[in-house]
Amino acid sequence: MVKRAPLTTASAALLSVAWATALAALAIPAARAAAPEHAPAANTASSSAAATGPAAATPPVTPDPYADGSEQSGATKAAVCFSCHGPNGNSQNPAWPRLAGQNAVYIAEQLHLFKAGTRQNPVMQPMAAGLSDQDIDNVAVFFAAQTPTGLEADPSYWKAGQALYLHGDAASGVPGCVACHGPVGRGNPAAGYPALEAQQSVYVVSQLQSYANGTRYSGPSATTAAPNSIIMFDIAKRLTPEEIRDVASYVQGLR
Ligand code: HEC
Ligand code: HEC
Repeated sequence: MVKRAPLTTASAALLSVAWATALAALAIPAARAAAPEHAPAANTASSSAAATGPAAATPPVTPDPYADGSEQSGATKAAVCFSCHGPNGNSQNPAWPRLAGQNAVYIAEQLHLFKAGTRQNPVMQPMAAGLSDQDIDNVAVFFAAQTPTGLEADPSYWKAGQALYLHGDAASGVPGCVACHGPVGRGNPAAGYPALEAQQSVYVVSQLQSYANGTRYSGPSATTAAPNSIIMFDIAKRLTPEEIRDVASYVQGLR
């Protein structure tokens, strides 16, 4: 099984009953800690690369070292996934998520949640049902090792989206997304926090809406089965439709 590292102090605090209060105290230092000084300036105003093509020299994402999946076996199993998730997990349908470069812990977790019916989707549930635990680890490691490519940010929206991503919205109690999803959207592989870089904006909008309205997971034990979801349920509820549109556009252009 692909294993999740123990919760960090910050994320454990977020899961506590008083998490909203803890979040207010944590968001700013956490965001600072997460942003290295040399963070690539994706989507900066001066960067015409944001509008013209994928950033050059992006280091390949390596498989998580603590996963016991086999990338080679995963490649064979993953071929069937390409019809929807695109070649090597670079989806070409805006509503279907990109898997290339997503972290293995998160991919494996989501496949188990589809299999258990906690995350419901008529298309994905049968796909996940056919995978053994070992298959899940293998495809997870395979997709994590692929390089995400894809669409760019919408020039009308990404600046507002960048401000929200980096700084949150103090007035509505939204923390900066950077604290957990990282400066260039690579997520936090050790904790299983998903990468958002290059994710299709249409898919991102749909997921933020389904966290906000509580439909991303269902069933009586949905929040115990997907404990991380509590974090996003609360954050997504505080976002306006415009903020969702803007931040979705911004992350689509992140590399
Ligand atoms: C027929 C189309 C189709 C096929 C084939 C397919 N998927 Fe999916 N997949 C989807 C859709 C649509 C979603 C988004 C579901 C939702 O909105 O909740 C999804 C979501 C996912 C997610 C969650 C991504 C995230 O960011 O949360 C994972 C992981 C995934 N698929 C893995 C796979 C794997 C592995 C295979 C091959 C074994 C596969 N899929 C085959 C359509 C497909
Ligand atoms: C405190 C940590 C934290 C913060 C801050 C945070 N997220 Fe998340 N996010 C998570 C975790 C953990 C998940 C996975 C939840 C699950 O299991 O469904 C997630 C999932 C998501 C997903 C679904 C990804 C997918 O592939 O389906 C989106 C989209 C997302 N977050 C967007 C955002 C945005 C936008 C912000 C800022 C406004 C934000 N997040 C702030 C932790 C965080």
